[in-house]
Amino acid sequence: MTPDLMDAGARRRAAHAQRDAGGTGRTASGGRAAAFGRPLAAGQPDFAHGVALYLEDVTVRFDGFKALNALTLSVDVGELRCIIGPNGAGKTTMMDCITGKTRPDAGRVFFGQNIDLLRLSETQIAQAGIGRKFQKPTVYESLSVLDNLELALRGDRRVRSALQSRLSGAQRDRLAEVLQLIGLAAQTSRLAGLLSHGQKQWLEIGMLLAQDPTLLLLDEPVAGMTDEETERTAELFLSLEGRHSLVVVEHDMHFVDLLTQGRRKVTVLHEGSVLAEGLLAQVQADERVVEVYLGR
Ligand SMILES: Nc1ncnc2c1ncn2[C@@H]1O[C@H](COP(=O)(O)OP(=O)(O)OP(=O)(O)O)[C@@H](O)[C@H]1O
Ligand SMILES: [Mg+2]
Repeated sequence: MTPDLMDAGARRRAAHAQRDAGGTGRTASGGRAAAFGRPLAAGQPDFAHGVALYLEDVTVRFDGFKALNALTLSVDVGELRCIIGPNGAGKTTMMDCITGKTRPDAGRVFFGQNIDLLRLSETQIAQAGIGRKFQKPTVYESLSVLDNLELALRGDRRVRSALQSRLSGAQRDRLAEVLQLIGLAAQTSRLAGLLSHGQKQWLEIGMLLAQDPTLLLLDEPVAGMTDEETERTAELFLSLEGRHSLVVVEHDMHFVDLLTQGRRKVTVLHEGSVLAEGLLAQVQADERVVEVYLGR
């Protein structure tokens, strides 16, 4: 997580906490809580139609080459969606478009039914509730597990002052919850730099979760993990389904199998478009998919 985006996510979470404490709860749907039971505020996504993320005809050109080619894709609220596809298919570029890092040449990208992500900056997108994990873990190695999580929660880059101010009861509860989720409750005072690769990945996921993003984008989260770490990561993601929407890009088919459990949808990207979509067994039996993977 970059410092800017960490700050943005923390500000959003603080605003949520304040609003929840106020309990006014006016929403665009006439006072009914929108998805996830949260009241809808200005700048926050409206999930009343059940769609968390919608990309339509998104095209990205790099020197004339189309990294994304009229990509159309939609992810439901609370859904855990795996995206697979050979190297260069455009998976990371798709995440770059959702998070505002890359501006498409054409197409539309919506968060909920009301937030046009192409009009927002990277910071605003993080503030709207989209968290992203890049492939390489980026934690503060010289700080403890707990300090890393506290920083993510507060979003204050002035480390010393951030760590000296007191956490609220609700913040403490959230940290305890996140520590349990990522399996690092027994390692709170351990320096992040001393964690295994897998534990660093979990810590970074925990830093995202501390900010309670509505949509989580995870790019190759189990790369470099042991089999056991991979299995625990699958359990973690499955436990997040429902409360968050998750988009997981991964090459490890065993992991995808663990996540989908024969019943969740997988999307196959190829040359910047959706080549196939369906259950893992269905797409793996699809001749076009086999050809694309064998052609690697
Ligand atoms: N900034 C850039 N400039 C030029 N070409 C780029 C740029 N970023 C990506 N590409 C190209 O766009 C295509 C899609 O890249 P992308 O990184 O999205 O693929 P991917 O599906 O994430 O692949 P991998 O599985 O290897 O991570 C590739 O051919 C890549 O070389
Ligand atoms: Mg990639």
